[in-house]
Amino acid sequence: MAEESTLVIVKPDAVRRGLIGEILGRLERKGLRIEGLRSARLAKELAERHYEEHQEKPFFGELVAFITDGDVVLAKVTGPQAISVVRALMGPTDPRSAPPGTIRGDFGTIITANLIHGSDSPESAARELALFFPEG
Ligand code: RTP
Ligand code: MG
Repeated sequence: MAEESTLVIVKPDAVRRGLIGEILGRLERKGLRIEGLRSARLAKELAERHYEEHQEKPFFGELVAFITDGDVVLAKVTGPQAISVVRALMGPTDPRSAPPGTIRGDFGTIITANLIHGSDSPESAARELALFFPEG
């Protein structure tokens, strides 16, 4: 099975609510490894680069404002098919329609405050990991 690494961001709403351990614990209990971990307050420019694919979307301003509004936890998460496995544990983007058992389904109600980011493809993972874990 192909080993992959993905970027996870525990978003400011989850940090504020004391859910760092709950969220990272779910990834660990699934069998994924946390290979890099740090807390940070994202600068606006870095957040804009991270979410550059959404630059033209109507929600871009709100998204960048939200993700820079408090501390986040950045994690490099590795394991078999880690990219899609993390996406499955997260659940769909809108927590209101995310199934129970997923992180967003269990803890969220607001699309902007959806607790966790996970890279959505091998290309995104490589780009995002280079942005936040340039040391490898
Ligand atoms: P993420 O990138 O944060 O892991 O989330 P995602 O892949 O599930 O969703 P994506 O389409 O990449 O959107 C990025 C973030 O933008 C916010 N969003 N708001 N108001 C809206 O209609 C809307 N749509 C998306 C969400 O917070 C989403 O996580
Ligand atoms: Mg995304």
